[in-house]
Amino acid sequence: MNQGKRVGIVGAGNVGATVAYSLAMLGSCHEIILRDNKIDVAKGKALDMSQAASAVRSHTVVSVAEDMSDLTNCDVVVVTAGSPRLPGMSRDDLLMINAKITKEVIGGIAKYSPDAIIIMVSNPLDAMTYVALKESGFERSRVIGMAGVLDSARMASFIQEKLGYGGGQIRASVMGGHGDDMVPLPRYSTVAGVPLTDVLTSSEIDEIVTRTRNGGAEIVGHLKTGSAYYAPARSTTIMVEAILKDTKQIHPCAVYLDGEFGYSDIVSGVPVMLGANGAEKIIEVTLNDIEKEMFKNSCDSVKSLIDTLNKNNFFKGE
Ligand code: LAC
Repeated sequence: MNQGKRVGIVGAGNVGATVAYSLAMLGSCHEIILRDNKIDVAKGKALDMSQAASAVRSHTVVSVAEDMSDLTNCDVVVVTAGSPRLPGMSRDDLLMINAKITKEVIGGIAKYSPDAIIIMVSNPLDAMTYVALKESGFERSRVIGMAGVLDSARMASFIQEKLGYGGGQIRASVMGGHGDDMVPLPRYSTVAGVPLTDVLTSSEIDEIVTRTRNGGAEIVGHLKTGSAYYAPARSTTIMVEAILKDTKQIHPCAVYLDGEFGYSDIVSGVPVMLGANGAEKIIEVTLNDIEKEMFKNSCDSVKSLIDTLNKNNFFKGE
């Protein structure tokens, strides 16, 4: 299946490497090309993963791009490159550093894989997806951020933990940006089709909503020196597969809004139909007044990051 498909992965750290491993184990594509400034580390991981693929009789080969110019003709490119927050660094400092890295990486992708669909994973996710869209010049259907699949999976896992049953049958829904004010939607969450509100009390649901919003931080709190990567990577793989297999399934993804939900010139997480052409359709789910207000707050946060980039003349030059 999907013979001949090439997936590029920029950044072979924990998230990027785990995306590659997951795709290789699933045999989702013919070739995976890792690109990282630490070329030897990338080479070691690529060899290791190719051998793991052989062990499970997967046809996927993992190789390394020594330069962005080797990342040619990819069908999908996943971007995980970015700096983690270091001591003394403000949120805005991190924003500017990762925006510069994204700009450089996206320039290479646009040049060497001009037909690719880009999946952004670097943080701050929604702002980096916005940067990727502007810098690539691609149509908005081909620049998609990964966050909603992860945040929904976290919410589903917390629901299962709270209920003690229903594993694998939970559909949780999260919209908005990948930040503290993301918008978990209990009203659109079900257990085997049963509304969440029928099986949990409102205070239990509130607890799950809060825990979902802090899902990334909870893991950082345990790991101390890094952030989550298994669920972020597997969530990315789900999006890559939906595109490569042209499934037309709906996943919450960060995309550029052009009037949908009443917002324009902003990236936020919304239900999206994924297929061979990327984000093929945005589904405009009905929100009640409280949900609309939460979505607005989330969009405002993303907007303030984009404003910071504009204030620093980010889009006007180097
Ligand atoms: C998380 C961070 C890394 O949600 O975005 O785990």
